[in-house]
This record gives sequence, C-alpha cells and structure tokens, in this order.
Amino acid sequence: MSYAALRSIGAYVPKKILSNDDLAKMVDTSDEWISKRTGIKERRIAAKDETTSDMGVEAAKKAIERSGIEIEDIDMVICATISPDYFCMPSTATIIAKKLGLGNTTAFDISAACTGFVYILSIAKAFIESGMKKNILIIGSEKLSAITDYTDRGTCILFGDGAGAAMVSATQNIDEAIIDINTGSDGTYADLLMSPNGGTGSPHDSLDQEATSCFMQMKGNETFKVAVRTLTKDVVEILEKNNIESSAIKHFIPHQANYRIIKAVGDALKMTKEQVVVTVDKYGNTSGASIPMAINEIYENGSLKSGELLLLDAFGGGLTWGSALVPFSPLK
Ligand code: COA
Repeated sequence: MSYAALRSIGAYVPKKILSNDDLAKMVDTSDEWISKRTGIKERRIAAKDETTSDMGVEAAKKAIERSGIEIEDIDMVICATISPDYFCMPSTATIIAKKLGLGNTTAFDISAACTGFVYILSIAKAFIESGMKKNILIIGSEKLSAITDYTDRGTCILFGDGAGAAMVSATQNIDEAIIDINTGSDGTYADLLMSPNGGTGSPHDSLDQEATSCFMQMKGNETFKVAVRTLTKDVVEILEKNNIESSAIKHFIPHQANYRIIKAVGDALKMTKEQVVVTVDKYGNTSGASIPMAINEIYENGSLKSGELLLLDAFGGGLTWGSALVPFSPLK
C-alpha cells in the first residue's frame, strides 16, 4: 500500500499592503479597534488584473521547485477557493494547470471555505492511498478583496489575498505519511457566513444586484463562538484518536481568522506560544490559503524541519471544519 506524504510547501502574497489606518479612511474603524479585536495589523491586496489562478501559480511554482518532483509527474491538481477566477466554470485548478504547462492532468476545485486546504489535503491523501494518483499538487488561493464589501466594517477589516500550495506524493515509508485527517460540516449554521446572492438559492433579479452579488456576509459574533468551540473539539478528537499528546506537536497551525480565536484555542489545548503559528497580523484571513501560507512562513523562516509534526486545524463557512496530523516529509 502507498501512503501520502507532504513533500513541500510554497506561498505567494501580492505586493500591495492594506493597513488598518488605510481601512480607517474607508469605514468607521481604527487601528486600535482592529488590532485589539482581531490581532490583524495589515493584509495584502492583489492587483486589479491579478487573478486567483495567477497567485495560485506563483505559490505552486515554489511548491513544485522545492518538492524534487518533476512537473510532468504531477497527476492531479486540486484548488480550494471561494474566490475563483470564474464562478461555476472553468475551475481555477484547470487554469492553474494550464498556466503551469501541465498536460492533461486531472484538475478541479472544491468549495469548503476556510477549511478548503484541509479538505484538499484529505482528497489528495485518499487518491494516493487508493493507488489512483502519485503526485498531487494542492493549492489554496484567494482574492477575497474581490468578494469583500469595503463599506461593511464588520467584514472588510478581516480579509486579505494570497495563495499557498503543497505537493503531496506517494511513499512506502509509513514514518513519512500523513497520520490522520478529520473533516466535517454542519449546514445548520450556513447563514453565519455566506455570499448569498447569485446562486440558485438566491438568484439575481436585476443587473444592479449582480455587481455586489458575491460579497461575503457574516454574523461575526456568533461565528467567533462557534469557531472557538469547533476548532478546539476537532483537535481534541484527532489527538485522542491517534493517542498523541499536544506536547508532541511541533507546530500547531490553526486557520488564521482572528488572533483572539487562535489564542483561545491554543490556551484550551495547552499549547505553548512556541508551538502556535501566527500570521494573521500580517495577512489577515485568507480563507483557503491561510494554512499553507502559515506553513510556508515557518518553512521560509527556517523553523520547519524535516520530520517535524504539524497539527492543522481549520474552520469556515458551511460550516465546515477539519484537522490533520501531518509530518513534514521533504524529499530534499
Ligand atoms: N471597527 C469599530 N467598531 C466595530 C467594527 C469595526 N471594524 N466592527 C464592529 N464594530 C462595533 C460593533 O458595531 C459593535 O458596536 P456596538 O457595541 O455599539 O453595537 C461593537 O463593535 C462590538 O461588535 P461585535 O460584533 O460584538 O464585535 P466582536 O468583538 O465580536 O468583533 C469581529 C467583531 C468580526 C472582529 C469578531 O466577531 C470576529 O472576528 N468574528 C469571527 C470572524 C471570523 O473568524 N470569520 C471567519 C471564520 S473562517
């Protein structure tokens, strides 16, 4: 039997920085309020002509280059995004595959909001373990600025743009293998986080509506409470199921939504400051890109070493959630 190993990581962030002070000129807010309530200081904003697939390609190039796997050996591309190049079709994954020069590779998107990266990791693991695929490029890429309402101070302070990518490939060595992934959802909470208009559940009835049809709407306060509860429960379950103590985790990588959520979950799990990876201050919430961008951060600053155990923990619209126990197993 083949196992699935996380071989590499890469990320890309656009150049333009949108600071809290910049936002205070756009809506009734302040650097002090945003910093205190969210821990976010700034976020990145993609250029007008820069697409989700463009950012995904840049992250993917790094992940491929660092993986030691030849581009022609990639047999699947999966992209997690809620801000695709085109809604419905074609998928952003097919565009990324084309831009990377991948031939006739299987490519598709999935929609699991901020849990997207954990979902695509689980899909990659399943395809590899079944023997159907060997080298799968997974990408979380988001241009959330395109679906953010910059007149709504309850949401526009939170979100940013960016992309992260990873190579997952087959191994016979169980020590390199992804240990476990737990994913779930509960549509009862669907209205906490939505882009309500434009789909068949809320079709356009005018051209005016179309312009703002995809903007995210959020019940922030309720989302906050469910996030802390769900993220904590999910991690407790995966650690218990695999008989692993939280002290064995080298890097705990929660979805980067709000520092207060990260702190509450980290404290509930008795994680030390050194274990918890935080990037929300620099990038805000980048949804499906948040976890691979955070892994890339510790890779590029030299603190992620071969063999170290990562615990991923995500939560997002749907509601969806997921956690994963993943040793970092580079080939080079
Ligand atoms: N600047 C200044 N004041 C703001 C504000 C802003 N950007 N946004 C909201 N407020 C005000 C509210 O109007 C409210 O004022 P009131 O007391 O006069 O009515 C007050 O601040 C408190 O609002 P509340 O919504 O209770 O704030 P909060 O502490 O819950 O923080 C969020 C708001 C959005 C930062 C927080 O709820 C959050 O992070 N939620 C989770 C979001 C999330 O993680 N989403 C993605 C999940 S993947």
